[in-house]
Amino acid sequence: MKRILVTGALGQIGSELVLKLRRIYGENNVVASSRSKKDTANKEVMESGPFELVDVLNSQQIIEATKKHNVDTVIHLASILSAVGEEKPHLLWDINMNGLYNVLEVAREKNHGVFIPSSIAAFGPSTPMDLTPQDTIQRPTTIYGVSKVAGELLCDYYYERFGVDTRGVRFPGLISYEALPGGGTTDYAVHIYYEALKTKEFICNIKEGTKMDMMYMPDALDCIVNLMEADSTKLKHRNAFNVTAMSFGPEDVYAEIKKHVPEFEIKYDVDPVKQKIAESWPNSLDDSAAREEWGWTPKYNLETMTVDMLEKLKEKLGNNK
Ligand code: SER
Repeated sequence: MKRILVTGALGQIGSELVLKLRRIYGENNVVASSRSKKDTANKEVMESGPFELVDVLNSQQIIEATKKHNVDTVIHLASILSAVGEEKPHLLWDINMNGLYNVLEVAREKNHGVFIPSSIAAFGPSTPMDLTPQDTIQRPTTIYGVSKVAGELLCDYYYERFGVDTRGVRFPGLISYEALPGGGTTDYAVHIYYEALKTKEFICNIKEGTKMDMMYMPDALDCIVNLMEADSTKLKHRNAFNVTAMSFGPEDVYAEIKKHVPEFEIKYDVDPVKQKIAESWPNSLDDSAAREEWGWTPKYNLETMTVDMLEKLKEKLGNNK
């Protein structure tokens, strides 16, 4: 990668990824883009390098941004997450599928690479739940998951048929302190850290004992960079690799936080929609293909992530505590 366009750059992943990419590849070589300039957004993303308004439903805007900045890679992050998708399935299909199609079509014409995140949501209730293999049954029951499986297949098709260098990973729940996730099922695992410091009480909308894969954002960012820089000839899989760093249920992350915040309490008020989604996803992924084909290894586990999250969030929340 030398000149990169990031779509959805003001979201949970984008707002940290853009800054990391600018540090590695140079400020002017990483173009952040978003459909609108959110008021709450990280200003540094918009101001520390090029920024373009790009609605992924508008192919012309994608073409103009890629041409203007002569990009060789698009990291396509603009999408709707699982829980919002169940409220607005038509909108999810439109943004997630037509947005991806537009990005792939521009990549085909301009001959550049594409990174697209898939998700643990690409699996469903008939998938083996423990140590879910790389290649296995994928019959998801959410519209988000359906769009992820279709997206994986479409990306493989563009690689096989048109030679577009598409690569992706199936991200687990991502935990970070910079920008909040926007309406996913794994969001509780971010909010629990905020509430541990802010109110010392957390009402969890996922049932005790519900295990899901998770990852700390610094590892997720490394994942993107390392996969995109990997030797193409070594990749047997492309769209998309299982990746994980840890697997836990709400009670596990609560117990870990409580070691640092002894007065912290958890209560449960389960959201049936999110619970059903969570139960349809794996308990733990087997990510050996990613380890073998491009050397994936996470740096953080639940313990080390918790120490870092609490430290960074304390700084961030500062006076608000
Ligand atoms: N974190 C996402 C969600 O919960 C899964 O990819 O929707």
